Amino acid sequence: MRAIVLLFGLFCALPALAQQAADAVAPEGAGVGVLSVPPMLADSAEAKANGRPVEAGNWMIAAAHPLAVEAGARVLASGGTAADAMVAVQAVLGLVEPQSSGLGGGAFLVWHDGASGEITTLDGRETAPLAATPRLFQDEGGQPLQFFDAVVGGLSVGTPGTPALMAEAHGRWGRAGWPGLFADAIRLAEEGFAVSPRLAGQIAEDATHLSRFADTRDYFLPGGKPLQSGQILRNPDYADTLRRLAEEGVDVFYTGDIAADIVAHVQTAPGNPGVLSEMDLAIYQVKERAAVCTPYRGHEVCGMGPPSSGATTVGQILGLLEPFDLPALGPDSPEAWRLIGDASRLAFADRGRYLADSDYVPVPLKGLLAPNYLRARSELLRGDDALPEVAPGDPEFDHALIRADDRSLELPSTSHISIADTYGNALSMTTTIENGFGSRLMVRGVLLNNELTDFSFVSHEDGHAIANRVEPGKRPRSSMAPTILRRDGQPVLILGSPGGSRIIGYVAKTIIAWVDWGMDAQEAVALPHLVNRFGPYDLEAGAGGLANPLRALGYEVKETDLTSGLHVIAVGERLQGGADPRREGLAYGE
Ligand code: GLY
Repeated sequence: MRAIVLLFGLFCALPALAQQAADAVAPEGAGVGVLSVPPMLADSAEAKANGRPVEAGNWMIAAAHPLAVEAGARVLASGGTAADAMVAVQAVLGLVEPQSSGLGGGAFLVWHDGASGEITTLDGRETAPLAATPRLFQDEGGQPLQFFDAVVGGLSVGTPGTPALMAEAHGRWGRAGWPGLFADAIRLAEEGFAVSPRLAGQIAEDATHLSRFADTRDYFLPGGKPLQSGQILRNPDYADTLRRLAEEGVDVFYTGDIAADIVAHVQTAPGNPGVLSEMDLAIYQVKERAAVCTPYRGHEVCGMGPPSSGATTVGQILGLLEPFDLPALGPDSPEAWRLIGDASRLAFADRGRYLADSDYVPVPLKGLLAPNYLRARSELLRGDDALPEVAPGDPEFDHALIRADDRSLELPSTSHISIADTYGNALSMTTTIENGFGSRLMVRGVLLNNELTDFSFVSHEDGHAIANRVEPGKRPRSSMAPTILRRDGQPVLILGSPGGSRIIGYVAKTIIAWVDWGMDAQEAVALPHLVNRFGPYDLEAGAGGLANPLRALGYEVKETDLTSGLHVIAVGERLQGGADPRREGLAYGE
């Protein structure tokens, strides 16, 4: 242990590595320009560009930006655990991919412990302020607000959970000294980093919202002009915040001057003030939840239970598909996608009716995943065509439930980190500030989340309450699905993705591609997406050949961009990493 601490001291004292572009990658849909990749990751970038997985023997990391991967890799190479590496990765992501996740947001973490074999899930989801009511996102007449009227400003800001989650994971499973884990992020924030094509593209697209608040506008649109790809960006305020966190510990974020500053920004946001208070920050807690693990063809699919709908809905989809011979049908078969599409619609119907923060509303979790319930629901898939109608089922439960269906809008956002370390630990963490750039409020170099808009704006329908309505202290329902597949108690696949409620489809598809269709980690990630949530079938370019056959089966088909950000590690004799070609992330291992 002492050797590891010393190693970390040395590592922190090293001069900054040059950030020259060793390779240039312009991922599809990432925006205009080229992405700078540190020399260490040149082979990873080449593998991804050629559709090959990255292989390694000891440890591996896959995350959304090369500089974050590099920071995590250095921690792992120096003897750090997956939890240590996650802290370094998250700190850098908050700088270089600020639109997706950061200290101002929330996250869910799934951990397989190499020593004990236990699975633990940690909930670092944001909470609704104590002063919030079910009518938070309604106008005076009780009508739901327009989505972006609610998002941009203070009203949507929940109590951030990510800093507390980083500290909790490090406290439980870390070996490296906490302060050193912030060294790369602090250095990059002070010296600057090259704005990536994807970040530049998103700033340009969001210029109107980003210009609403002076601090945010001055950072992302200096002199009124959106930052360009390749431009060097410094964030000294973020460096100061990180230094405080590194030196004084995580409480510095939840009490004292930083907390007061966050609250002041939220409560005085021009045009759209929120109700977050210092008390909300002071009482915030990470919660350990029971992992939701469901069987699939000899594997255990483990993930995050409520307030996330991720593992439950992925588990239902796979459970509904288990009776069908997907391996024989293969990925080009319209019949396979009819089964997957309608299994997903059935699972989404249950999700809309039943899933929310189980600390506040009774959730029939056991009934929703019970083998006899799934077997009966899967009989609905025995026809030849798309189901004409899909309704929630009636899972066994010891509460009388009369609920209306959820009506929350979830737009793509978020980031995913997968890590396997040299101690046999596996970490899967999906992390978010919700919409791109969150609430657009920026405090001390940190963007604040708009996670509260993951609640249903409508609180009741026909006198029946909606499970995912706003309530004080409650955590909004999420679709984030950080997942670890295990076989014989050992992790075999670590995965997750951003993408709003499409996350569930991206994760289920990747598991099917790997388990049923024998694809490697990179092939499974790259396989074109077909996602069905509420009826229409979303198809991405590349899956176009299936559009007409699916129309003939009765689906409304929409061809669209499906910008997942899957990061996958397959664990076998060796480790194999896959990074989503639709975004800028990489996998790297040694
Ligand atoms: N805000 C994205 C999610 O939690 O699903």
